[in-house]
Amino acid sequence: MQWSGLARLLVYFDRSGVVLPRAVESFMAATGTMYWLGIDVGTGGTRALLVDAEGRVHRTFTALHEEMRMERPLWAEQRPENWWDAAQLAIQGVLSGSGATGRDIAGIGLTGQMHGLTLLDERNEVIRPALIWCDQRSQRQVDGINETVGREMVLRCTANPVLTGFTLPKLLWVRDNEPRFFDRVRHLLLPKDYLRFKLTGEHATDVSDASGTALFDVVNRRWSFELVDKLELDRSILPRPFESNAIAGLVSKEAAASTSLQPGTPVVAGAGDQAASAVGNGIVREGIVSCTIGTSGVVFAHMREPRYDPLGRVHTFCHAVPEAWHVMGVTQGAGLSLQWFRNQLAPESSYEALTAEAAMSPPGSQGLFWLPYLMGERTPHLDAKARGGWVGLTARHTRADLVRALLEGVSYSQRDCLQIVEGLGVPLESVRLSGGGARSAFWRQMLADVFNKRTVMLDTQEGSAYGAALLAMVGTGQFSSVEEACGAVIHEGESVSPRTDAAQIYVKGHRTYQGLYKKLKPFFDEQ
Ligand code: XUL
Repeated sequence: MQWSGLARLLVYFDRSGVVLPRAVESFMAATGTMYWLGIDVGTGGTRALLVDAEGRVHRTFTALHEEMRMERPLWAEQRPENWWDAAQLAIQGVLSGSGATGRDIAGIGLTGQMHGLTLLDERNEVIRPALIWCDQRSQRQVDGINETVGREMVLRCTANPVLTGFTLPKLLWVRDNEPRFFDRVRHLLLPKDYLRFKLTGEHATDVSDASGTALFDVVNRRWSFELVDKLELDRSILPRPFESNAIAGLVSKEAAASTSLQPGTPVVAGAGDQAASAVGNGIVREGIVSCTIGTSGVVFAHMREPRYDPLGRVHTFCHAVPEAWHVMGVTQGAGLSLQWFRNQLAPESSYEALTAEAAMSPPGSQGLFWLPYLMGERTPHLDAKARGGWVGLTARHTRADLVRALLEGVSYSQRDCLQIVEGLGVPLESVRLSGGGARSAFWRQMLADVFNKRTVMLDTQEGSAYGAALLAMVGTGQFSSVEEACGAVIHEGESVSPRTDAAQIYVKGHRTYQGLYKKLKPFFDEQ
């Protein structure tokens, strides 16, 4: 630990005033602090990752979650208690066999799936399973907000239109449908913030994750009490917001006992999974854009000031970098499309086998198209009623065409996101790829062809958990800023250029793909 770093640490305390500077100071002095821990509450599992002082990944460990519950179409729930069980396993798993103990952890960064509604009662018990990011049940509440508050006021207060995936309409769904639960609500938390509560006892969040609640004043980086009051919600249920690299709590004795961590270990506020992944991908200055294909697919660009799409098709949120914002476009069912295909139609096949099979079909999949709207769609349609499927199927098509069309449909949807981001005047030369989808060389080439842009991989492909660990390194003074941390540890690797022939086929294919949504909209609306 550098002394200059410790001095910076104290500045954060002065600003936030939440944790005790002396406690952290003596913690730092007493430990042989060598490693930082990033913890990511994903959809499929919770992942812990250990990095050393040079930002090298030492070890990772993932503990899987239970299957998400989908009792009805478009409902998606998970048990927060299961996230905490998985987090304890992941922390113990990453420490055991690493040669490090809890005493060697200088700081922890949290990240996770965004938007999930986690409700606690006055005894801090979970009231009901969380309605997670892809839950789309709240269209009636979105319409209600737009009628009572007005779209203009929502935009003015939060910089975004309210969407079914965001946290606020989910809260109002509970108010409207489960008043017995709503009456007990004392704390509203996002998924990673539930882990923070279990680790530190603090009810806190960070500005990037808070941006996705539809209650946060993104421009001024604070809760929009104007909107909260207008909706007659209780201000006191909201967690305290921090900048992502600020320390927002210390590991409690109780949490230390169940995780092998050291009591007093600082936990920085962290970030929503997309902002943390952007830090892990070095998207911390203008001009660099990322495309991350996980369960969802996200195009993410850094901005020095908040800019909006007037149609609200992409989100304008606070970045995990102080005084910076980001814009992002989201495909709801990106990796999810392939996962669904494999689980339902090809359980015997690995993802590698499926993408190898897809390579046997030509660009354009012989006229077959996939609409990735398995959980409705965000960018560009903002339509919870959109439904997925193949269009153009004939008896001549093979399974290879089905898979190729599926990958192309997801790529077209990400191209929609990219075009809107470019339309906001964000400079874009190349696209950094990350997430599970980027592991396939075949899909990487396809994305370069569909985007007609050079795509770049990074040396480190560790995503959100890595970004969270970097935020912890900044928060505890190992680096002086997020930009400095990224500059020191993130390096570009292999790049792929678009192939002219395929790119031309995809320009036409993208136009046809875009037309299909318009033609099918009346059918979606009838559902
Ligand atoms: C971002 C979003 C997803 C989830 C799940 O707006 O909904 O990235 O956080 O990964």
